[in-house]
Amino acid sequence: MTAPAPLTNTYPSLAGRTVFITGGATGIGAELVSAFAAQKAKVSFVDLQKDAGKSLADTTGASFFECDLRNTGRLADIMAKVGEANGPISVLVNNAADDTRHDFREVTEAYWDDRIAVNLRHAFFAIKAAHSQMLEAGGGSIVNFGSMSWYECQGGMTGYTTSKAAIEGMTRGLARDLGADNIRINTLVPGWVMTPKQKEMWVGEEVKREIERGQSLKSELLPQDICAMALFLASDDARMCTAQSFIVDGGWI
Ligand SMILES: NC(=O)c1ccc[n+]([C@@H]2O[C@H](COP(=O)([O-])OP(=O)(O)OC[C@H]3O[C@@H](n4cnc5c(N)ncnc54)[C@H](O)[C@@H]3O)[C@@H](O)[C@H]2O)c1
Repeated sequence: MTAPAPLTNTYPSLAGRTVFITGGATGIGAELVSAFAAQKAKVSFVDLQKDAGKSLADTTGASFFECDLRNTGRLADIMAKVGEANGPISVLVNNAADDTRHDFREVTEAYWDDRIAVNLRHAFFAIKAAHSQMLEAGGGSIVNFGSMSWYECQGGMTGYTTSKAAIEGMTRGLARDLGADNIRINTLVPGWVMTPKQKEMWVGEEVKREIERGQSLKSELLPQDICAMALFLASDDARMCTAQSFIVDGGWI
């Protein structure tokens, strides 16, 4: 397969905008950080992974803050600091998640709560923390990350799939509350994206065949394909898009 062309769209409305991305140190999140920085946005991101975060900040000019998103108080403090330093956050990308597999028969109440905390709870509290800043900015765009896994009835990670289904409910449940303040909120639903982690952990020859059978389009789905949609949804070009799920999966579900 020939290497895909880099993203070509430029969104003037993103230049100078304060963008906040969760889970930006690796995977799709790292590509999001680079893609928004390339649009000349003022990008800040949080992640657990300190070394990867720092090195991405060095190469992109984005600001990195180490944060475990289960600590939503710290997340809110960081978001307040970002607003003070860069101007009010007007784009929030709730990207962070953890798809660690688990057998439902072995899930304890504590592990269940942890899966919800790592995959769902922080997204709501990031939105809550961003709201006053988006009001100050005169509006905003929130992009929540879903997953096609639960559409596909994927087993072995109920805490994750339940959270990802809830993200879509949360998006629709907040769209009307936020719409009056000119704040848009959408879910971006990726298919199976070939990040280094996915390739290393899950995608052997058999899974490659499964992906090829599943997708209508036979090319590998890459982080930049997801970024293309995220940039659009964040930009003013998407000014009348809210409350929806936008699926980028090569035509699988
Ligand atoms: N890769 C895929 O195939 C795929 C498919 C469907 C949906 N998605 C969704 O896209 C988004 C990005 O996926 P990805 O594959 O890049 O994920 P990933 O697991 O590779 O990366 C997630 C990032 O979030 C960070 N993170 C995890 N827990 C955290 C915590 N408690 N505090 C702070 N940071 C934390 C990780 O360190 C990592 O940098 C996720 O929401 C994921 O559910 C991905």
